[in-house]
This record gives sequence, structure tokens and C-alpha cells, in this order.
Amino acid sequence: MNSNQHFDAYLQQKLDEKKTYGTFRSLLFADGKIDFSSNDYFGFAKSGLLTIDNTDLPSGATGSRSITGNSQLAEETEQLIAGFHARDAALIFNTGYMANVGLFSCLAGKGDTYISDEYIHASIIDGMRLSYANRLRFKHNDLADLEKKLNNATGKKIVAVESIYSMDGDEAPMPAIAAICKKHDALLVVDEAHATGVYGEKGDGLVCKYNLQNDVYAVVHTFGKALGLHGAVVTGSNVLRNFLLNQARSFIYTTALPPHNYLLIQKAYSLLPAADRGKLHELIQYFRSKIAAETSIGFIESYSPVQGIIVGDNFNTKAMATYLFDKGFFVRPILAPTVPVGKERIRICLHSFNSNEEIDRMFTEIMNFSY
Ligand SMILES: Cc1ncc(COP(=O)(O)O)c(C=O)c1O
Repeated sequence: MNSNQHFDAYLQQKLDEKKTYGTFRSLLFADGKIDFSSNDYFGFAKSGLLTIDNTDLPSGATGSRSITGNSQLAEETEQLIAGFHARDAALIFNTGYMANVGLFSCLAGKGDTYISDEYIHASIIDGMRLSYANRLRFKHNDLADLEKKLNNATGKKIVAVESIYSMDGDEAPMPAIAAICKKHDALLVVDEAHATGVYGEKGDGLVCKYNLQNDVYAVVHTFGKALGLHGAVVTGSNVLRNFLLNQARSFIYTTALPPHNYLLIQKAYSLLPAADRGKLHELIQYFRSKIAAETSIGFIESYSPVQGIIVGDNFNTKAMATYLFDKGFFVRPILAPTVPVGKERIRICLHSFNSNEEIDRMFTEIMNFSY
């Protein structure tokens, strides 16, 4: 064996260990299945509405925003988004992952403290790790534990939450969290990835719904979920925008989005006010009413489009996901350690284009499944 083959053998061993624990991942095709898995909450991605005819634009940004990749279009889009979410300024990143890594890696530094919910997204964890700040975790949605951790924090204190949690689909008690942050002189940063489009009168998210713009320092909205596109934005003050474009390495050291993406982002934002939130929330109610009738199954307590059936074991969860997949439903297993041991689950995402009848059929198959 040469050294490359040796290294492959070493990696293969690590992959085999994953197979032993049931955490080995492989890629699937969703074609032809009923979508109970994507984050395309209103079907924007496949609607055919998000296309552009303007072919004069260059195919690429040709450089970082800091060098040749900036444009009137980019800045005009940011202003539009800032206005939509009632903030002073906005800065677009290439993905939500990069927005969180960039934001959290530079907001706090040595001697400061991040206090995040224990279920916070991996992108925020990675950003916080890069910052060299201290990190404390509070129990999921537990206000008393948040206060306890704030009492132990040093330096600048920054609290990170998701308004809707990506794996549990439950809502952070944001008005209460904002009040606690105020009391402890801590900044609050909110990731609205799964709330953007889904909540708020025009789909502007939960920070706007609760009128917390002045109590939340920065908000992350992603374009890859309800908006059906790709990319993300951090909204906040003009100073924050300037700081990020000077300090956030995931903004500075990467080629900017292709110019036509900004036109698509503008289009998607223009569709949000009329997105069928009513239908989506009706389906959520319907799904919850089905759950109420199925006492033999454990479900997560969620009133958002993100729902979950708790199976409680990596292998059984995978087996149920495969069974449902074979029956025509695209659902994904969420395994430990992504979720705590014992909370392994089938994650079900509801969309405004799903129907009660599809939910009925899926429930029938869930009940037919045996380990
Ligand atoms: C809460 C949350 N934040 C950030 C991200 C990352 O967003 P993106 O897919 O645009 O990188 C996701 C998506 O997985 C998410 O669920």
C-alpha cells in the first residue's frame, strides 16, 4: 500500500465505526417522493417563479465583495432586506452557515462569553469556537438556566438562540429571553432560519412579529429555506454591517454570490407577503390533531412546520425512515449525536403544498411499520 492508500484505509476504518453506531451518512435522491423533508416551506424553489430573464449580468461575481464582487445590485438588495425586517442595515453572506460562522467568530473575543441554547445550530457552535470567547450552554428554552449562566458570564455577554429550532421545531420564548438579556446587559442574537417567511404578518419572522427589533442586536435570515434560494443575511445596525465586512472572514475571503442571485433574492422577498402561511399553519394544526389521536407514538412538542416522531434508537430510526421512503415519503432520520441519545427521530417538514390526504397516508404507514 502506498501512503495514500494507507490513509484511505484509516479513513475507511473511521467510516466503519460510524456504520457500527448507525451514524453513517449517504446521499439520496428525493425524486418522485412526497416531500416531507425539504425546507422549501412554500414550494418557492420548484415553483418556476424564481427565474430571471436578464442575461446581461456576468455569470460570476469575479471576486470577494471586498475586491471586485460588490455591485449596486448587492447593496440595493441589502437595503431592501433591511427595510423588510425593519432594521437599519443588512449584509449578505453566501450561506447561512457562513453568516453564522462569520458573525459569531468576530462579535466576541477572548474574555467575553457566549451563552447559547444547548440545541443551537452547528454553524453557530463553529463560529463561537473560532472566536476564542468563553462558551456556556443553557438548557433548551430554560429561562432559569439562562439566568444562571448569565450570572457566571464574564466580559461582553452574547446570548444566541434560534427563534424556531431546526431539529425540534419549537419556539424560543423570545420576549422573555429578550427581557432577561436586558436585565443582565447582554446582547441577543437570533437565528431565524426556520421562521423567515413562516411567521410575521408578511413573513418577516418572529423578531418582527414580537416587535423585538430594538431588543435583538443581530438577526440571521437564510434564503435556502422558505425563500427557496441560497444565501443568507445578517441584519442589525450600520455599525454592525461595517464591522462584519471588516472582520467576518467568511464574508471577506470568499467569492461573492453571482449577481443574478440578488435579483432572485429580491423576487423571493417580493413573494413572501403573499406566501400561503394560512394553509401551512392549517396543515400544522391538522398534523397535530393526528398526533393527538396516536397515543402509541412519541412526537416532539412543536407547532411549527418542523415536526418529529421520536423513535429513540439510531438503527430503528433509520429503519423507519427507509420504510417510509420505500412507501413514497421523503423523510429523513435524525440521529444521535445530532440529537441527544434517546431522542433519535424522523424529522417531518410540512409545506403549504402538502395535503391532509398525504398526511393521512403517511400516518397510516407510520402505524403499519414494525421494527
Ligand atoms: C438554524 C439554522 N441556521 C443556519 C443554517 C444554515 O443555513 P444554510 O443552509 O443557508 O447554510 C441552517 C440550515 O441548516 C439552520 O437550520
